[in-house]
Amino acid sequence: MEFRHFGKCSMLSPVPVAMVTSVDSAGKPNIFTAAWCGTVCTKPPMITLGIKPERYSHGLIKQSGECVLNMTSASLVRAADYCGVKSGRDTDKFADMRLTPIKTCVSAPAIAESPLNIPCRVKEIIPLGSHDMFILEVMDVALSESLFSGEAPDLGKANLVSFAHGEYYLTGEKLGFFGFSVASKEVLRRRMPKRGGGK
Ligand SMILES: Cc1cc2nc3c(=O)[nH]c(=O)nc-3n(C[C@H](O)[C@H](O)[C@H](O)COP(=O)(O)O)c2cc1C
Repeated sequence: MEFRHFGKCSMLSPVPVAMVTSVDSAGKPNIFTAAWCGTVCTKPPMITLGIKPERYSHGLIKQSGECVLNMTSASLVRAADYCGVKSGRDTDKFADMRLTPIKTCVSAPAIAESPLNIPCRVKEIIPLGSHDMFILEVMDVALSESLFSGEAPDLGKANLVSFAHGEYYLTGEKLGFFGFSVASKEVLRRRMPKRGGGK
């Protein structure tokens, strides 16, 4: 494979697209879109968000100490883009995009139209340069009932969107599962019927 070097830039790809909700001191909700986010700890469950200090949401999340990550499904991608180019200082993004706020265990509402929402509390804010790193502790995880057929959720049904170098993509076909490279034929047959147990 031949390579072309792009130099020093943040091109880790793909990354998730989170619609992050928070409230002002009067309880009015806002949404901003964040792609600089990732899981950093399992116990306790923690996520980081990179937020520019000039974002309206930066002040809201810092002051309230809470926010909700609402993951973007294909049907929400236009709203996610809008919430990533308009500021809550100037407009009501819930109203503009006809989104429905619903109560969570933190002060910020979730977006009812998102299949996966994650209410969080701010643990720490670390200035890094252009962005501040918000370390968030996960307080709950709510998944749409439509993702369940048994006990475990099937996130493949959620049509989640990812982001790579400025473009939105739909998460694609299931290719495997954690540990499938060393799984028995029986497990592969059960969990990957087409690939593992194919003709
Ligand atoms: C796909 C996408 C991803 C973005 N990711 C981030 C991010 O991770 N951190 C950030 O500070 N801004 C990010 N932005 C920009 C903010 O969402 C944007 O400036 C937004 O208007 C801020 O809204 P607010 O002023 O209501 O907080 C992103 C925008 C888009 C479209």
